[in-house]
Amino acid sequence: MTSAAVLTAAGSGTRLGHAVPKGLVELDGEPLVLRAARGLADAGCLGAVVVTVPAAEAATFATLFPAGTVPGTDVPVRVVPGGPTRQASVAAGLAALDPDVDVVLVHDAARCLTPPSLVRAVEGAVRAGHRAVVPALPVTDTVKRVGTAGVDGAAPVVATVDRSDLRAVQTPQGFDRALLDAAHAAGAHRAADEAVAVSDDAGLVEAVGERVWVVPGDERALKITTPRDLALATLLVRDAGV
Ligand code: CTP
Ligand code: MG
Repeated sequence: MTSAAVLTAAGSGTRLGHAVPKGLVELDGEPLVLRAARGLADAGCLGAVVVTVPAAEAATFATLFPAGTVPGTDVPVRVVPGGPTRQASVAAGLAALDPDVDVVLVHDAARCLTPPSLVRAVEGAVRAGHRAVVPALPVTDTVKRVGTAGVDGAAPVVATVDRSDLRAVQTPQGFDRALLDAAHAAGAHRAADEAVAVSDDAGLVEAVGERVWVVPGDERALKITTPRDLALATLLVRDAGV
């Protein structure tokens, strides 16, 4: 049996604001999707990576993997068109996995500095018997629940939330493949009639009543969303050699 990854890169990167999709945007001279794919391949525990990309840009993305592998490794890569939402893109990636894949990691190209050690930790936790695993970090800000903002924009505080058991969740998220397939099928069915907003794959698993487990995350797995995030990531790569 094999572990594989679905690497989502089918978004447009609207908030980053570049002319090309976010996956093609370069961080210190290398496209985000390539960095993310290498982080996955270098973990040494994955037999394949499926990359979901914007359909109109599929040929451009494919040129980043000229040998059909993650460059510098022998891990095979398949480039497939994503969908209109991240959930649809993950579903398209799952559909492209080989039948022998029994553990799947879902990872965002936007978290392109994720170290191989985190990939191994998540994959290992699934192999050890946890069927759904997410990496997460403690929340460091004070968190407050607020009411409706008035005309001047100020909103009243309703409560201060105890943050000791709150975690900010990252990717890669790891799953027993059959469980994730079932959770996505149920999610697609629900979305049609209830429009439930679920923002990650683990949320789909929770929605079918299965336990999700948390392992320690890594600050290097930060998500690049805005130009400020890209500037920070560039500093980290150049100065800290992340
Ligand atoms: N993603 C995807 N398919 C979509 C939307 C998003 O595969 N239809 C992927 C993105 O490529 C990204 C990850 O999901 O790697 C997280 O999404 P986000 O950071 O929101 O990226 P974008 O959707 O590209 O950015 P924006 O929302 O600013 O347009
Ligand atoms: Mg988005």
